[in-house]
Amino acid sequence: MNLDWDAAARRTVQRCRALACYSEEPGWTTRTYLSRPMRDVHRALTEWLAPCGCAVAIDAAGNLRAVRSGGGAGLRPAIFRGAASLVIGSHLDTVLHAGAFDGVLGVVMGVALLESLGPREWPFDIELIGFSEEEGVRFSLPFLGSRAVTGDLDEAVVAIISPAIREFGLDPAELPLARLRRPITGYLEFHIEQGPVLEQLGLPVGIVEAIAGQSRLEVRFEGTAAHAGTTPPQLRKDALAGAAEWIAAVERSMRDTPGLVATVGRITAEPGAPNVIAGAAGASLDIRHAHDEIRHRAAQGLTKDAEAIAHSRGLRVCVETRSDLPATPMDRHFVALLEEAVRAAGYPVHRMPSGAGHDAMILAAHVPAAMLFIQSPGGLSHCPQESVREEDVAAALACGAEFLSVLERQHTGAGE
Ligand code: GLV
Ligand code: MN
Ligand code: MN
Repeated sequence: MNLDWDAAARRTVQRCRALACYSEEPGWTTRTYLSRPMRDVHRALTEWLAPCGCAVAIDAAGNLRAVRSGGGAGLRPAIFRGAASLVIGSHLDTVLHAGAFDGVLGVVMGVALLESLGPREWPFDIELIGFSEEEGVRFSLPFLGSRAVTGDLDEAVVAIISPAIREFGLDPAELPLARLRRPITGYLEFHIEQGPVLEQLGLPVGIVEAIAGQSRLEVRFEGTAAHAGTTPPQLRKDALAGAAEWIAAVERSMRDTPGLVATVGRITAEPGAPNVIAGAAGASLDIRHAHDEIRHRAAQGLTKDAEAIAHSRGLRVCVETRSDLPATPMDRHFVALLEEAVRAAGYPVHRMPSGAGHDAMILAAHVPAAMLFIQSPGGLSHCPQESVREEDVAAALACGAEFLSVLERQHTGAGE
């Protein structure tokens, strides 16, 4: 495939910026799991995908599923019955006050690649998935979309998310139908790097070798709500002060443990009034490391710290692990094919780890998975300043097209 990708890259970036306007909060991009603006995103993507000859549907987890049958025109009658040989995907939900590219870029690049195929026959089906939930903002449960697709949603999680699914007009009883059918050649995800490495190296793209493991915990301190003006220090059971002491311990643990990143990104105080000592305080903990033993040890240590702090202050504490995902290597064979594609597209090959979590972590446990990172200017992500350069998107699209050609040759046995 030898196309000029500049125009496709320009359109891709424009489309991402257009989708960023579909938000729960005016003036910001905030689109959590199954929130109302997700319908607008689905509608726009469906409009772009229809001319590609794709059958598009929303599955029971709220994932957008688009299948382009290899036969070009002749689509399968029911898209969830057939086997899509290659899956391309990323997520459509965002963090609070997000940028325009985290997740969305990977899906919109998938649209551009499908557009580039035109009406030609292709030796395998391609399914594009816009995952409904990766960030874990709404329920503190990340990867809900991809876990539905791989059949990794357990009953407890289904019970938590079912009301939201119904509210969106979908049926949780149909979640099993969202599962991918085998055999699948593999999963490819395009994603912005979200860090500064590629920019420092002056490279447009990088190939992900492995994704760091991550845990999410919810910690709740409980004390006694009381009057801020009348309660002397020694009689206070201030849950928020306990949480604050623990947050300092989290930061210390990160500083003392090479390679560990630990973040308390959300705190709540109850009742949350300036003149009331907090009777309860909640804190989220996100903790990551390339080595699972170190991450687990750190999580255990921080749980003990919370208990010790609560004890010393006369508080109660409850620590709940919401998710625990192991460090995930990408598939060696698929990574080698991606490397071949990057080289064929004329770009330097650079392998790198990912500190950020991605849907590829979930897919990788079931099918060969590979990821291509695109340079993030300033290394910025999870903020409105997040951006991407059109020329880097063009490079990534060229690599993606070469990847399809590499797979095409494998399917047809050409060159053997
Ligand atoms: C996803 O963006 C994550 O790494 O939390
Ligand atoms: Mn993200
Ligand atoms: Mn992402």
